This record gives sequence, C-alpha cells and structure tokens, in this order.
Amino acid sequence: MITDILVCPICRNGLSFSEGGRSLVCPSGHCFDISSSGYVNLTRGSSVNISGDSKDMIRARRDFLAAGYYLPIANGVVEALDAVSPSRIVDAGCGEGYYTSHFAKSFPHAGVIGFDLSKPGIELASKAAKRDGLSDRLSYSVCGIFDLPIRDRSVSAVTNLFAPCAGEEFRRVLRDDGRLITVVAGVRHLFGLKAAIYDEPYENEERRDSIDGFVLDDIIEVRQTATISKEHIFPLFTMTPYYFRTGERDKDKLLSLDSLTTEVAADILIYRKV
Ligand SMILES: C[S@@+](CC[C@H](N)C(=O)[O-])C[C@H]1O[C@@H](n2cnc3c(N)ncnc32)[C@H](O)[C@@H]1O
Ligand SMILES: [Zn+2]
Repeated sequence: MITDILVCPICRNGLSFSEGGRSLVCPSGHCFDISSSGYVNLTRGSSVNISGDSKDMIRARRDFLAAGYYLPIANGVVEALDAVSPSRIVDAGCGEGYYTSHFAKSFPHAGVIGFDLSKPGIELASKAAKRDGLSDRLSYSVCGIFDLPIRDRSVSAVTNLFAPCAGEEFRRVLRDDGRLITVVAGVRHLFGLKAAIYDEPYENEERRDSIDGFVLDDIIEVRQTATISKEHIFPLFTMTPYYFRTGERDKDKLLSLDSLTTEVAADILIYRKV
C-alpha cells in the first residue's frame, strides 16, 4: 500500500503503517485497520451512512467488464494518463477496480489508490490486487470521494469514470501540473441496448462539463461496436441507469435475445488546473 499521499481523515496528519503493519496510524493515535483482503476503511463524516453500489451491481459489473467489451475505454484513459507520466494516480469512484487495476498494470512505476463508498466493490478490487501481486502499489479504500484522505497537491492524475465528479476536492489533491480525467457516456453509448428495450430510444446528451478551477484541455472519443453475448446482456443492463427505470415487461425483452450488437461510445475528457 502506498501511504505517502494518505492523511488521517480525522486530523489530516500523515498516515503510516503501525508496528506489525496491520493498520494505518497517525501521530495523534487514530488507527484504521487493514482488512484481510488489504483495504482500509477511511470513511468519516457525512459519508458514513452512504453505501455506494450494492453487491449485485458490483458483481454484474465485474462479470461484464471482465469479458473485455470496455477495454478500448481503459486503453483510452491509459493514453491520456501517459501524457503526464503519472507517479501517483487516484481513481475516484473506482467500483470493483477494473480500470484501476488496468492503470496500475500499465504504469509499473506508479502508485495507484482507488476510492469508493461501495464496500463490496472495494473488497473485490483489493482481492484482485492481492491475487495479481500488486498490493504494494495498488491499494483501495472505502471512502467518499468528496472528502479524500489525500495530501494537497500530491497526485499526478485523478481518474473519474462513470462516477460522481467532486471537482473542488480533485483540484485540491492534484499537483499543479496534474490532470483530471473524467469518462462520460458518449451520445450513442449503448444505443443498441436501448433500442432493444424501448420503442423510442433517445440518444444521450453530449457532455462537455465545465468544472470550476479546470480547463478542458483535450478529448478522446472512444467509438466501437460490440456484440454482447447472451450471458453478458443482463449484467450490462444491470450496470446502467436504465435498470432502475425499466418495467418488468421491457426487461424481459432482453432475456429473449441470443446476442446484442450495440455502440460503445465513451468520451474521455482531460482537464488541467487553472
Ligand atoms: C457507475 S459506477 C462506476 C464504477 C467504475 N468507475 C467503473 O466505471 O466501472 C459509480 C461508482 O461510484 C461510486 N460512488 C457513488 N457516489 C460516491 C461517492 N460519493 N464517493 C465514492 N464513491 C461513490 C459507486 O459506489 C459506484 O461504484
Ligand atoms: Zn489522526
């Protein structure tokens, strides 16, 4: 676990390993146990009662992402990260760590920390990091991203994929030459999925969000067509916002499909600090 950029969420002093290495401690005596899978819970304040994505959602996402349909998105973010030769990467809202792990593997000299409020997500992510022998420099914390336990100006890049954007907090933790890289759905993202469910599917609005204290410097548009096999259609649907908005009859339409061809369209927005 990389600790040099971590601070205590209570008193904001630096965190380091306790004797024996089973917890993180600060000079004021606050202590945070490291779980058997290797993550640490640094939640506090308003985030304590928010839980993030459920076990079912996290598992669906893991099954779908593991099949590689979104690999072009992961590679696009790596291309964006490459421009800053990152030494410290924070993945804010990392879920079960599919992308986070890809970043750690792509930048063998970087320390990477993923934060998410979903305990099942962080648990799966840390188990995978341990399995891959990456725990020394790829670690995870259950924690809200609006109040990160990270030193000011210590991070080369914050990545924020399909997750809420905490612009002010990201600006605080980023070095002055750092980059914020967000990933949002493109206009035609998953249009084939929507067309399979709805009579009148709508395109997404194009997002070029302005974020206070940042300027949008570059955009990478990932555009692919994917044929999703039967076993992955429902996991994909479960990880979309449509899952909660769709009635049972429309959901059943997906179950009868043998495969689904759809656009995968993600916009990678690269911001620098001003
Ligand atoms: C759509 S998922 C994306 C996960 C991952 N980045 C990916 O693309 O696979 C959004 C994630 O944001 C997390 N999340 C939502 N609000 C959060 C918050 N305030 N702090 C930390 N994580 C949050 C959820 O638990 C969920 O894992
Ligand atoms: Zn403390």
